[in-house]
Amino acid sequence: MTNNNIYFIANWKMHGNIADINKSKSVVRLSNLKKFKKTKIIYCPPYTLLKTFCEKVKNSNISIGAQNCHSHSEYGAFTGSINAKLIKSSGAKFVILGHSENRKNGENDLIINKKIHSVLKENLNVIFCIGETLTEKKNKKTYSVLKKQITKGLKGIKKINNVMIAYEPVWSIGTGIIPNNLELLKNLSNIKKIFKKFKKSSSIKILYGGSVNPKNVRELAQIKAINGFLVGGSSLNSKKFIDIIKKTIN
Ligand code: 13P
Repeated sequence: MTNNNIYFIANWKMHGNIADINKSKSVVRLSNLKKFKKTKIIYCPPYTLLKTFCEKVKNSNISIGAQNCHSHSEYGAFTGSINAKLIKSSGAKFVILGHSENRKNGENDLIINKKIHSVLKENLNVIFCIGETLTEKKNKKTYSVLKKQITKGLKGIKKINNVMIAYEPVWSIGTGIIPNNLELLKNLSNIKKIFKKFKKSSSIKILYGGSVNPKNVRELAQIKAINGFLVGGSSLNSKKFIDIIKKTIN
């Protein structure tokens, strides 16, 4: 990992209130320090906090993203749903798509592809999550799963510079277990290869997600192919999140 433009993305999942936004002030201060000017810190809170969070970080280096969106790109009769247009109007600039917690609930590659198109249409940026389950890993299906997720998810996508991939092995999310460096290197290099063959370009940022914490981040940060981290649990605590950032940028 080089020290340039490293992403630290906080996925708050279904957590967070106004008090938690206020607690992130220490992260805002850190983001404004010269040493961390090249780090890209993005908070992805629940929809309910998007606008407030955007206002709070207005004069800082921090950006805001949503955790999902509806696939329909126009306004419409979709009770309870939020689409890319609504997210844009909140001031958010990023959207996480394809997260395994949503894939598990029936979101398939086709829907994810539609969502990616709709987000890019609004000139927002996509954090595109891919990753194999434990069963797929055990059955040696990791390569084919990653290939399918990438080629179906990114089908017909032109504004590829506004997309980054987050490799999140499902078995690592929330378990405290991370892949060993050799396994991670192999999967990251396969992701690059699949992407290059499919899009005729090798310029794609790849993040790692899954149980990233202050204890394991130094080891993960040694891997050059990683452009940053998508952090769940540890991002809910500003002290831990700062620790992750500081241990990566040294
Ligand atoms: P944890 O960091 O809690 O394992 O979650 C990772 C994740 O799902 C981020 O999107």
